[in-house]
Amino acid sequence: MVNEIIIKKKIDKFNKKIQVSGDKSLSIRWVLFASISNGISKAYNLLMSEDVLAAIDIIKNLGIKVNNNKKFCQIKGNGLNGYKYKKDIVLDAKNSGTLGRLILGLLIDTPFRIKLIGDNSLSKRDFKRVAEPLSGFGAKFKLNKNKGLPLSIVGSNKTKPIKYFEKKGSAQCKSSVIFAGLKTEGTTLIKAKKSRNHSELLCKYLKLPINLKSKKNFDIIKINKVTKIKPINYKIPSDISSSAFFIVLTILSPGSKIIIKNVNINPSRTGVIKILKLMGAKITLKNKKTYKGELIADIFVKSSKQIKSINCPTRFNSAAIDEFLVIFLVAAKANGVSTFKNIEELNQKESPRLKLGSKILNLMGIKTITTDNSIKIFGNPKLEINKKIIIKNYLKDHRIFMTSVIAAMSFGGEWHIQDKDSIATSFPSFLKTIKILKNDN
Ligand code: S3P
Repeated sequence: MVNEIIIKKKIDKFNKKIQVSGDKSLSIRWVLFASISNGISKAYNLLMSEDVLAAIDIIKNLGIKVNNNKKFCQIKGNGLNGYKYKKDIVLDAKNSGTLGRLILGLLIDTPFRIKLIGDNSLSKRDFKRVAEPLSGFGAKFKLNKNKGLPLSIVGSNKTKPIKYFEKKGSAQCKSSVIFAGLKTEGTTLIKAKKSRNHSELLCKYLKLPINLKSKKNFDIIKINKVTKIKPINYKIPSDISSSAFFIVLTILSPGSKIIIKNVNINPSRTGVIKILKLMGAKITLKNKKTYKGELIADIFVKSSKQIKSINCPTRFNSAAIDEFLVIFLVAAKANGVSTFKNIEELNQKESPRLKLGSKILNLMGIKTITTDNSIKIFGNPKLEINKKIIIKNYLKDHRIFMTSVIAAMSFGGEWHIQDKDSIATSFPSFLKTIKILKNDN
């Protein structure tokens, strides 16, 4: 079948040093911050994936000049109010929830109606979660009946600050309100359940009027209107979410070792490392440094002979939200029953990942008990697959595809995995990196 990959063999043991592509969250944020800065910003190692290219297309549609070539990307911002466009434009966020939600914060004062569309998967996702707080600033939204896309927004020329309690642990909701706060006179106050904090760190690095207080379970963020944003030159570090596939492949492949260079290890993203270490994984972080407010390190991983089951502490949920599918594969090989609770947000992603993750485990012969917000995985340390498994990825979810490839290469069997092209959204070089490990590049 077109666009299907067939894997019939486990990977042989490997010992490699690799570098995965640039971080997706940071790449999209850099594009958006650069688009409202005053002057020319330049980025190296920007992730060249569909989600990031969609961000570039959107700011171009908003009148921003971009020079994107193989070596670097340059964006000429015209300041906070520098978007210039005609009436009735349509912006396409394609598959990207991050782009679709964050850009709305920057359109809070748009004088014309703007329509936001996305692909089939994004159109099924919840946009009410951002439309509600952003309406508080004075913008008017029309959402389709399923609270998703297409939507339209008309901004207000007299935006007013809001007090917002973000309870889901969604960095996308928090960041869209931060952007709106930067465009609004007065103090916007956010109390947010902990989630990735790249937007806040970029604001701090740019010396924007943001005040951050970290409490045990929440962050308190105060933002004031900004007048000028200086351009940002940035070398995007590698993505921990893309690294996670190789961390797990190494853990599950006897005798293997890997070094993954220059990865963003912001603590709000490293839940996967903390959880896997509790399960007995051998992961070490070396050459730690800070770069423009972000932490970076090389990740060293060795395969594990024994994997312990886990009752996963919910405090890691937000920091591991994009990695649970691969973590479930490690739980499948664990000695005992693993439990993951309060992970309902997994079903709000590019596809209902909790449901589909559980289905993949069942196809592998692993028993699960799954509810709307939790999963129990009955691990089998002797797991070997000897049958044919077909993965139909109806919403073309990149992480479902890549997780299935890692399962096939770790546990054997004959896997037919559909929608290979889905990797283009976050990690276009995923299969090339697999080839490097197979020594046949
Ligand atoms: C992201 C936030 C997370 C994450 C997504 C990227 C971001 O989503 O799942 O892949 O860059 O802000 P939520 O904000 O919905 O939790």
